[in-house]
Amino acid sequence: MRFLDIIEKKKDKKELTREEIQFWIDGVVREEIPEYQSSALLMAIVLNGMSERETVDLTMIMRDSGDVYDLSLIAGIKADKHSTGGVGDKTTLALGPLVASQGVKIAKMSGRGLGHTGGTLDKLESIPGYRIALSNQELIDQVNRIGIAVIGQSDTSVPADKKLYALRDVTATVESIPLIASSIMSKKLACGSDTILLDVKVGEGAFMANQEEAEILAKQMISIGRSLGKDVRAEISNMDQPLGFAIGNALEVIEAIDTLKGQGPKDFTDLCIYSGATILQQAKLCENHKEGEDLLRKAIEDGSALVKLKELISAQGGDPGVVDDPKRLPQAKSITPVYASREGWLNRVASRELGILAMELGAGRAKKEDPVNHAVGLVVPHKIGDFVKAGDLLCSIYHDQPLDEMWLSRLQAAFGYQDSACEALPLIYKTI
Ligand code: URA
Repeated sequence: MRFLDIIEKKKDKKELTREEIQFWIDGVVREEIPEYQSSALLMAIVLNGMSERETVDLTMIMRDSGDVYDLSLIAGIKADKHSTGGVGDKTTLALGPLVASQGVKIAKMSGRGLGHTGGTLDKLESIPGYRIALSNQELIDQVNRIGIAVIGQSDTSVPADKKLYALRDVTATVESIPLIASSIMSKKLACGSDTILLDVKVGEGAFMANQEEAEILAKQMISIGRSLGKDVRAEISNMDQPLGFAIGNALEVIEAIDTLKGQGPKDFTDLCIYSGATILQQAKLCENHKEGEDLLRKAIEDGSALVKLKELISAQGGDPGVVDDPKRLPQAKSITPVYASREGWLNRVASRELGILAMELGAGRAKKEDPVNHAVGLVVPHKIGDFVKAGDLLCSIYHDQPLDEMWLSRLQAAFGYQDSACEALPLIYKTI
């Protein structure tokens, strides 16, 4: 087989066979196909697409390019969730313990943040002592014992995606539905859970800018999962404004803890309850969505979800004392309030820009190798549709370095006002 012929074929809008896709992925993993040739094929896929059969083949071949977890020694239905990424998205930290407190088995492998979006691993690492690496046996034992483990994906899992994603990032070939669907699903399937809930974010702070594209992506990922007999469902949710109030690692851990104490922001609490009820249905632990929601609200009220979070933190070597005393988490040197410059209804709380501003404080990484400062970030206690008066608190900046004027004016510009009432945004557009 010649790789040049495979590029020609996709350039001519033809379907690639399973063998041709296998030849490509093997060549990528063994570094036998030069990156310029893979880039040409990636661009041909961006422009000409892939059939459903090609997308499923690509997903399975990528999944099998490295270690695939076998969770069969964990009793019960293992559920996983995945968000396509957003700003202030700390859902796993609250949702994991919440559903685990009701008997769902969660063996979750999470990733790090890059650019304006955060990553669960960075958030967990702000808890002193928390270990993100467990051996296979430790993972299985912990989930059998307490129902939940949240770890980092191993270096040897889905190496094909690691290589291709890095190449896509620098060749303008990220934005392709079959490439995104196969990248996400190969990693999810390698984790070995029985059911998966996908949260496909849509809006200015997300990969998908509009609902139609988000829905096509969601349907592709569902059909990949179903072709393997997995119960995969998806929610399309809003990312035109940050989720919850906090952006930044330790700040988001505090918000997740507050949420499990029943004192979290309404949007974030509602998303955890809604998604959690879907997961309870997938794990066959409730009859219908309403019953699932009731069970989860009770788990917050009676403290069982909070107890599960403490168990998770201690099992992975972290300090469970952070739950009762958040001052044990990393603390920023300064907190600077920013006030509304005028009166009006907020019509813009720009999630992408707020995510970038938080990253520039040190909360995230511009490049994969950059260090992260777990203490810093932003707390934005407002949503689109809120009325504010001039001088009301708009945002609190948690920082270690002096703030510069240009950064502060960009922060003010991330908020927009109008003189008449503005509608609040929906949280979840659709469940598929
Ligand atoms: N997230 C992924 O894991 N892969 C993509 O291609 C896009 C988002």
